[in-house]
Amino acid sequence: MGIDLDFEERVCVVTGGTRGIGRQATELFLREGARVVASGLHERSVDALRERLAGFDDRLHAVGCDMRDPDAGEVLVETAVSLYGQVDVVVNNAAAFDYPSGGPVAREEWTDLLDVKLLGYVQLMNAAHQELAKTHGAVVNVAGIAGVLPRPTSPHVGAVNAAIVNMSAAFAAAWAAEGIRVNVVSPGSVGTQRMDERVAAMAVRRGGAVEEARAELYATMPLGAPTDPAEVAALIAVLAAPTFRAVTGSHVIIDGGVTLRQRRSG
Ligand SMILES: NC(=O)c1ccc[n+]([C@@H]2O[C@H](COP(=O)([O-])OP(=O)(O)OC[C@H]3O[C@@H](n4cnc5c(N)ncnc54)[C@H](OP(=O)(O)O)[C@@H]3O)[C@@H](O)[C@H]2O)c1
Repeated sequence: MGIDLDFEERVCVVTGGTRGIGRQATELFLREGARVVASGLHERSVDALRERLAGFDDRLHAVGCDMRDPDAGEVLVETAVSLYGQVDVVVNNAAAFDYPSGGPVAREEWTDLLDVKLLGYVQLMNAAHQELAKTHGAVVNVAGIAGVLPRPTSPHVGAVNAAIVNMSAAFAAAWAAEGIRVNVVSPGSVGTQRMDERVAAMAVRRGGAVEEARAELYATMPLGAPTDPAEVAALIAVLAAPTFRAVTGSHVIIDGGVTLRQRRSG
């Protein structure tokens, strides 16, 4: 017997739903019978998602929305409620940052990442609070293992991810009495377009070939390869699923053993 995740007719809001992990989560929720509001930053990305998932157009609303905008959370929640009547799940996943050039990280890079990934997450959670209380819903915040394994070349990424873990635990405690669950997923290296960008940036920094940089990076992964974004999406779905009513305040790492190796060698 399979596990019923109980997403039929649920309403899920997924930020960064146009690409990578967020797109996989969007597709999974749709396959499980949910209705989804999925946001992206660029209109061309949003159009591409609509085109790709045209078969689900009665249950998918793809929208362009900059999560750095202080009103973005309200807009997404209002859209979900006006189209589908409720909000059961929020997946905060949208983020963008440049891979490090090796120099100091500029103030604008810090504020940009804080705006989209920390404040953007908090704004959407606050905007969805009342709706989530009505549905006893769930939030899954996507952080990243840099929050526990600081990267010397991108301190802003680790700092924001660590803050997300702390902030999410605070919300989990504050909202538990209303039946709202809040959990965090921290991926390690995931096989998305960003992985290729990261490898390319490494190669430029070291002045070597891209394939050498890729081999070097993959050699740091105990399981030998990046995580499939569909696997991260499946973990997000489990944490968001109404089936798992007791899971809250958790931080689940999905990194192919990278943090384990660090702990053992550290
Ligand atoms: N991939 C990894 O190896 C990895 C590792 C650790 C943590 N993570 C975390 O996992 C999450 C997803 O990563 P990913 O690699 O799957 O992402 P991705 O493929 O780079 O896609 C990023 C998504 O965020 C959207 N986005 C970017 N800036 C935005 C903004 N200002 N407002 C609204 N939407 C915005 C993008 O929209 P457009 O398509 O319109 O640009 C896109 O949908 C992120 O939080 C990331 O930090 C990823």
